[in-house]
Amino acid sequence: MAVPRASIHGEWSSGLVFILAATGSAVGLGNLWRFPYLVGENGGAAFVIIYLLCILLVGLPIMIAEITIGRRGKRSPINSLRSVSLEEGRSRRWSLLGWLGVAAGFFILSFYSVVGGWALFYVLQALLGSFGGITADAASELFDTLLASPGSVVVWHTLFMLILFVIVAAGVRRGLQRAVTLLMPLLFVLLILLVGYGMAASGAFQEAMAFMFRPDFSAVEAGTILTALGQAFFTLSLGMGAIMVYGAYLSRQESIAKSAAWIVGMDTATALLAGLAIFPIVFAAGLEPGEGPGLVFVTLPIVFGEIPFGYGLGLLFFVLLSVAAVTSGMSLLEPATAYLTEQTGGNRAQAAALITGLIWVLGIACGLSLNVWSGFELLPGMGIFDALEFVSNDIMLPLGGLLIAVFVAWRMRLSSVVSELGADQDSAVFKTWLFATRFVAPAAVILVFLNATGLFG
Ligand code: PFF
Repeated sequence: MAVPRASIHGEWSSGLVFILAATGSAVGLGNLWRFPYLVGENGGAAFVIIYLLCILLVGLPIMIAEITIGRRGKRSPINSLRSVSLEEGRSRRWSLLGWLGVAAGFFILSFYSVVGGWALFYVLQALLGSFGGITADAASELFDTLLASPGSVVVWHTLFMLILFVIVAAGVRRGLQRAVTLLMPLLFVLLILLVGYGMAASGAFQEAMAFMFRPDFSAVEAGTILTALGQAFFTLSLGMGAIMVYGAYLSRQESIAKSAAWIVGMDTATALLAGLAIFPIVFAAGLEPGEGPGLVFVTLPIVFGEIPFGYGLGLLFFVLLSVAAVTSGMSLLEPATAYLTEQTGGNRAQAAALITGLIWVLGIACGLSLNVWSGFELLPGMGIFDALEFVSNDIMLPLGGLLIAVFVAWRMRLSSVVSELGADQDSAVFKTWLFATRFVAPAAVILVFLNATGLFG
């Protein structure tokens, strides 16, 4: 029996707001910064195809599962998992899965906020007109100088965390909802303007299309598939409770499956559009797509410095990047804040302050690992920033996603799942989802893990 519970944090005022909020979580640096450079580094279209398969076969089913737990539990991920597992007659230890998510959220936000800070720094540079006529060397230097300066990295990271704090401390309706209803329309308009420019003005749109959609599988290695899977989880914000906690604020009247399809569709469209906005201008300027993490912060400023309307376009792009980073960052802060608010009887602002402070400190360590602590390795060959990114994206998120799928598809009663989804148990759509969540998604994650350990040679 479902216990009719209400969220103590409030609810989204409509299903559309939930879709906007979850899309805001999903669309972020992962789409605009990480996806394009991963495509560039991993040989283009072959990577895109593997990524799309991961999204459809693993990401979408797990997103539905994750929202299901959240809306059933109506609490932070830790408490939702605890109450739902007890209701389902399962071990309360499933709440550990919520803790895994909270830990992943801490790790991710600590480096995410450092990169979010770079985006803010580049908004200022765009405003100051720093890209006008910038040479390749000067663009590298601008980025390298930023990274090499502990003071700048920490200041911009601090500003980014402060923005997140203000939004999350204000609560679901007055903070999160207000931010996404304001920022998401802005984000879509900016993105469409940039793609429009890439199509109309650069003359290299065909080349970009070929790069992104004509596959060369010889560039694919075992590690490529792990990267694509990790990116699928990262870009959809899956496996750590962000989507779960947003689902907890969704009214019972709304359809989970339809909302998930919209979120996944919009996130995927945004990643592809980001590629179609970025690669044409990169190719038109005769630059390389395989630049890595510097693609957005080094290559693009060179381009903006050369092309007509570069000042405005550069500003648009970095505002877009910052907005996308903020709406994702706040969803990384929310699960732990919601949990602490619940445990301490309701002072959200204090809870948000404490969690923000802890992540801020860890973020400083990430920022310093790029300069003064660059000699220190947390894992073999990886500084703090890279190690946290690797452990959270490539291990914790897929593991969290796997356990979420197992919990919903194997541990919850079918009747509970059917009632939460409002589904017809015999419909083809429901059966397909159940099959994907029971077998396909867990098997894919396990195989990719085994493969990455080198067991298959
Ligand atoms: N989905 C975000 C992006 O693509 O940038 C990153 C992210 C947000 C990951 C929230 C995980 C998360 F819980």
